[in-house]
Amino acid sequence: MARGRFITFEGGEGCGKSTQTRRLGAALERMGVKSIVTREPGGTPLAESVRRLLKGEGPEEPCDRCELLLFLAARAQLVERVIRPALEAGTWVVSDRFSDSTYAYQGCGRGLPLDFVSAADAFACASLRPDATFLLDLPPEAAAARMRGRESATGVGADRIELAGDAFHARIREGFAELARREPERIITIDASLAPDEVEAAIWSHLKPLL
Ligand SMILES: Nc1ncnc2c1ncn2[C@@H]1O[C@H](COP(=O)(O)OP(=O)(O)O)[C@@H](O)[C@H]1O
Ligand SMILES: [Mg+2]
Repeated sequence: MARGRFITFEGGEGCGKSTQTRRLGAALERMGVKSIVTREPGGTPLAESVRRLLKGEGPEEPCDRCELLLFLAARAQLVERVIRPALEAGTWVVSDRFSDSTYAYQGCGRGLPLDFVSAADAFACASLRPDATFLLDLPPEAAAARMRGRESATGVGADRIELAGDAFHARIREGFAELARREPERIITIDASLAPDEVEAAIWSHLKPLL
């Protein structure tokens, strides 16, 4: 049986990752491609518990090194229990964030040593790499406007990491851009300021060859 494809969405806050993850999952289902959708941190009961700790709903704020290790602990469990078995069974996996977010947020954003972040991440996911990653790139002002829109639509406010400040978010955007320059075969940068339908079409123009 052919191994399933592993597709990830990356980018800063409010760029449309969750929207496009849902759309791709729905499109694959309509096409009859066996697929699952997951999100990080989360996607298993244990990893969803870790998500709450990371979102600031736990007993205290994690320090930066603790934050990194919690993200990686959640990823290890998700890869072992969900992603790898699905791919081996021929199921496509679409994930809302994965390893690149750790490099951008905890490495470039928090300033933890990049070589260690990369090596520890490779350990956590047993060196699993996505087949394709869509980096949704959006200028910070547009991202902030979308976050405000989502907040008023859902009543859910920004979390601890989303509130971390402009300089932090600028380092993250540059971190993602650096990864995209380094791995152009895997990471496809999409202009996320386009309308949702246009973003989806751009994604499909790159995905067709993988089908
Ligand atoms: N291409 C788009 N154009 C305009 N608004 C969008 C677009 N994609 C998503 N949105 C809206 O912007 C907000 C953030 O999108 P979301 O998918 O939650 O982003 P993320 O998961 O990257 O934080 C939501 O209110 C969503 O409906
Ligand atoms: Mg989201």
